[in-house]
Amino acid sequence: MITNREAGTRIDEIVDGIYRISTPVSKLPGGFSFNQYLILDDEPLLFHTGPRRLFPLVREAIASVMPVDRLRHISFSHYEADECGALNEFLAAAPSATPLCGRVAALVSVTDIADRAPRSMDNGETLSLGSHTVQWHDTPHLPHAWECGFLYEMRTRTLLCSDLFSQGGAEHPPLTEADILGPSEAFRAQMDYYSHTRNGRAMIERLAALQPKTLACMHGSAWRGDGASLLRALGERLERTAAI
Ligand SMILES: [Fe+2]
Ligand SMILES: [Fe+2]
Repeated sequence: MITNREAGTRIDEIVDGIYRISTPVSKLPGGFSFNQYLILDDEPLLFHTGPRRLFPLVREAIASVMPVDRLRHISFSHYEADECGALNEFLAAAPSATPLCGRVAALVSVTDIADRAPRSMDNGETLSLGSHTVQWHDTPHLPHAWECGFLYEMRTRTLLCSDLFSQGGAEHPPLTEADILGPSEAFRAQMDYYSHTRNGRAMIERLAALQPKTLACMHGSAWRGDGASLLRALGERLERTAAI
């Protein structure tokens, strides 16, 4: 469903109760897209706020499925503008919401920059939202940033995988079963956004062991299929190109 005709922002339910909000940005070379994910539940959770300048568009998309002031958790993988640039705008729009992030992000950045104190999660810790349960997974420096981590929604087996599998281009179907590793590797060849950590393969294996069925990517389409196999294929490609 398109929620802003001028910008092309849309919101689509990709799996039971989990919505992908996406805004195409054709001004960037080759085009790009910024996605956020809304888990609609008793305690609604937003994963990625989008850059601060996209706040009106993301707010408008959320408002098409629920009142924005119902948001309870504003979560993100790591401290970057597309992850949490509009954090304080959302905290102002949703008085019961708090930031939700990993321990390192809380310690290093979020406690200082956020207008309300964050709730930090330990590796493996779970949080019930009602009918969905999210689990935090620390992935330091994978693909980048010391504080990096991902949320995994256990009931739908959805890995909110942030910048893993970033696909270039502005226009993408909300959910695909087609190959996204090829497009994300093509994008990585242009933009060296992985950190080259030595521990990447082991962290990817930990994520693969979750056997996700949906990968909720921040840039490009969300993907449905055998997530364990796709993650392991990514690990092999990273190792082969000495990126981890
Ligand atoms: Fe990032
Ligand atoms: Fe990103």
